[in-house]
Amino acid sequence: MTVPILEANGMRMPRIGLGTWPMTGAECTRAVESAIGLGYRHIDTAERYGNEDAVGAGIAASGLPRGDIFLTTKIWWDKPNGDAIRRAFADSLKRLATPYVDLLLIHWPSPQLDLADALKGIAAIRAEGQAKSIGVSNFPPKLLQRAIAEGVNLASLQVEFHVMLDQSKLLGICRAAGMGLTAYSPLAKGSGLDQPVLARIATKHGATPAQVALGWLLAQDGVAMVPKAASPARQKENLGAASLRLDADDLAAIGTLPKDRRFVNPDFAPDWANG
Ligand SMILES: NC(=O)c1ccc[n+]([C@@H]2O[C@H](COP(=O)([O-])OP(=O)(O)OC[C@H]3O[C@@H](n4cnc5c(N)ncnc54)[C@H](OP(=O)(O)O)[C@@H]3O)[C@@H](O)[C@H]2O)c1
Repeated sequence: MTVPILEANGMRMPRIGLGTWPMTGAECTRAVESAIGLGYRHIDTAERYGNEDAVGAGIAASGLPRGDIFLTTKIWWDKPNGDAIRRAFADSLKRLATPYVDLLLIHWPSPQLDLADALKGIAAIRAEGQAKSIGVSNFPPKLLQRAIAEGVNLASLQVEFHVMLDQSKLLGICRAAGMGLTAYSPLAKGSGLDQPVLARIATKHGATPAQVALGWLLAQDGVAMVPKAASPARQKENLGAASLRLDADDLAAIGTLPKDRRFVNPDFAPDWANG
């Protein structure tokens, strides 16, 4: 299965990757190894997931050269400045057992975030070669624009995005800045797939609702996605979305679904509309 590549500000990211939260330990290692065996070349983890060691073990067990895998990690929001991020990231690299990641993200903004200093910190990590590209996650529009204005060449924004959530504003900002947008919870957590319109389009193409949901994201320029699946069968199914081509009628029908369903909204989340 050939997965298309998203090119953005010097980054080359396979558009379908494996999400690893909330898997840990042997389950996570097995899932990463099996995904790579099936053709995944992009793995998404984070300091906070408590699974970087298991992800590193899965990549090692796959036997593939490190350079064949696109690996993302994220630093948690309790590190509000460059120094704290650098210290935490050094530990992430040790757990991942790799000399570099392909993408390093600030996981969430916090009121304590010193934006300029934090971005300077991740840019310094990139300059030293320990991250090939840098970006942010869960930044709302105004904060993302402020981050872009710092001029550190961000490659990617990771946010929740799926058939039930509109992200056109953030996507427009990313495209204008040459950035990619990585969709998390791209299957609307699995539970959001239970829509008759997805089932109807799936039947028409001999596909599954999950493939249709991912195909809708793939139909949008500048978007990558990290569906999480523990089993090889679902991993294979999700990767299969790469060969699905939705037509204009399909996209219009999916466009009529509600677009205000947000599944990830913790109490520390930013003001999504005005932040
Ligand atoms: N940056 C952030 O703050 C942030 C926040 C949330 C998530 N993420 C990342 O994004 C990844 C994905 O997001 P997510 O886990 O929240 O949601 P998701 O990928 O939309 O959905 C995962 C759920 O869907 C199920 N599933 C997988 N494939 C399926 C299929 N083909 N048909 C039906 N159900 C299927 C999975 O179950 P099984 O595994 O049992 O198959 C799991 O319960 C995470 O793993 C993480 O890496 C990032």
